[in-house]
Amino acid sequence: MPSLFDPLTAGALTLPHRVVMAPMTRNRADAAGVPGALMAEYYAQRASAGLIITEGVRVSAAGHGPVGQPGLHTAEQIAGWKRVTEAVHAAGGRIVAQLSHHGRIAHPDLLPAGVRPLAPSAVTALSDARTAPGVLVDTVEPREMTPADIAATVRDFAAAATAAIGAGFDGVELQGANGYLLHQFLSDNSNLREDSYGGDAAGRVRFVSEVVAAVAAAVGAGRTGLRLSPASGYNDTVEKDPATTYGLLADALNAQAIAYLHIVEGPDPELPALLRERWAGAVITNPFTGDDPTDPATAAARLDADLADAVSFARYFSANPDLPERIRSGAPLTEPDPDTFHDGEAAGYTDLAAHRPANV
Ligand SMILES: Cc1cc2nc3c(=O)[nH]c(=O)nc-3n(C[C@H](O)[C@H](O)[C@H](O)COP(=O)(O)O)c2cc1C
Repeated sequence: MPSLFDPLTAGALTLPHRVVMAPMTRNRADAAGVPGALMAEYYAQRASAGLIITEGVRVSAAGHGPVGQPGLHTAEQIAGWKRVTEAVHAAGGRIVAQLSHHGRIAHPDLLPAGVRPLAPSAVTALSDARTAPGVLVDTVEPREMTPADIAATVRDFAAAATAAIGAGFDGVELQGANGYLLHQFLSDNSNLREDSYGGDAAGRVRFVSEVVAAVAAAVGAGRTGLRLSPASGYNDTVEKDPATTYGLLADALNAQAIAYLHIVEGPDPELPALLRERWAGAVITNPFTGDDPTDPATAAARLDADLADAVSFARYFSANPDLPERIRSGAPLTEPDPDTFHDGEAAGYTDLAAHRPANV
């Protein structure tokens, strides 16, 4: 079996090793969703990752996530990301944008005037939305998407993917995990539709397949990844028969031959194993480790068991900008500080030093 430090080819992406930076929403963009110099510095500091997957980036004003979330749907946002990708590439790294739409987790306070959050069905999530730094408010009842809304949203994902490549990204990862719009279509409790986008498992995977196909057509399947979190329950998602749904989705993805599948493991190890078996391409896994951050030993065990080709780390990458080198050399890891995860400025974001051995 390969080790964490063997190279990996996934579609058009070539990774020098298999320690991947998982997406982390940090809410440091400006009020217009434009990434600035601080974000460029943060990502460039982590350029030694095998691959950087950015925080969730909204594909449209209607898909707005938390305050401080960056977007990829205006010229200013694209220009801001160019500075980020240039800084990462200059530091020798590779970076893909995680394209996201919050669907029913969006909040009207952050949407254009008069716009309600969109969702497969008008079912309120038992969740919350971050509408101002440190402020969490209840989510509201969304508006059921019409077929025209669905077609427009598929186009928004493709347009944002094209914008990402124009901004210098090496590819895109579609956010199909954690209870956001794509996952809302997959889940039984948020998708009560009776048209061709709901009902049985084949109906519930249709929207995700269409988004993947449109993005792959826009930027190439080899530059398109997809993140899934089967039966994770995040953001009030309930999936009654995930084995059938995700099995069908894997078949659809095989037909598209995208670059990789990024799996957020949940407590049930059978679902990631099923995806590994049914999906023919590369798998990045984000191990289930309870409340603890993904650790190097668990990561290595996933490769040894052939459950994945690469492993993503989120929290340890926040606190250890040089995480791959620390893992390789066995250096101690700095513990992450949850107080600095969301909102704020440089503290806990760009002020974390690389490890220096004691004798240097
Ligand atoms: C501060 C923070 C922000 C996150 N934001 C995102 C996100 O934007 N998109 C996403 O798919 N997952 C997001 N996640 C989930 C992580 O990618 C990852 O699945 C989770 O933290 C478990 O990995 P870890 O144990 O290595 O931290 C976030 C996690 C944290 C801690």
